Amino acid sequence: MPDAQQGSVIYRPMQCADLKSVALIEASVSPVPWHYTVFEKCLLLNYIAWVAEDDAQIVGFGIISIAADEAHILNIAVSPKRQCQGIGSVLLEKLINIAKEAQAKRIFLEVRVSNINAQRLYERSGFVKLGERKGYYPAAEGKEDAWVFEMRL
Ligand SMILES: CC(C)(COP(=O)(O)OP(=O)(O)OC[C@H]1O[C@@H](n2cnc3c(N)ncnc32)[C@H](O)[C@@H]1OP(=O)(O)O)[C@@H](O)C(=O)NCCC(=O)NCCS
Repeated sequence: MPDAQQGSVIYRPMQCADLKSVALIEASVSPVPWHYTVFEKCLLLNYIAWVAEDDAQIVGFGIISIAADEAHILNIAVSPKRQCQGIGSVLLEKLINIAKEAQAKRIFLEVRVSNINAQRLYERSGFVKLGERKGYYPAAEGKEDAWVFEMRL
């Protein structure tokens, strides 16, 4: 899929040079953030990872893995100062289109039960709640349950 521009924001595949900025965004939005090395591994494993870039600054990212006919959105985040400007929706739409092009039949994702903003984004984009995974996420204290969302393509 070619790079795309919407307004001043460019959407393009993630590169090694982006990893520091990506990990900084993750650290600023997640209660238990992925470490830099996890993002590095995603690139090494050839997961599909895209960034949103504005004026040479990384402002968001999204990562999806696709195996056979199933896709899994592994992470998506937008820098706190740039949230609620439609960037997350565009990143999610890109990942969905990539899954469609790869002939995936279903996309899954997990989201913390407390993460209402992300759940709104997913529902608004056409995902439906499939079930619950008890204690799926590490939390500041103990564990947190996840909702599993699905989109049939
Ligand atoms: C979830 C996230 C990626 C959304 O990105 P975003 O760029 O802010 O999203 P958009 O501006 O495209 O908004 C899309 C929809 O998400 C929901 N949403 C996003 N941020 C919201 C907020 N602060 N309050 C309420 N709803 C919100 C809304 O439904 C919104 O649609 P609307 O504006 O028509 O109401 C972003 O909030 C984020 O990075 N959160 C922290 C990381 C995270 O939770 N990632 C998901 C892990 S499963």
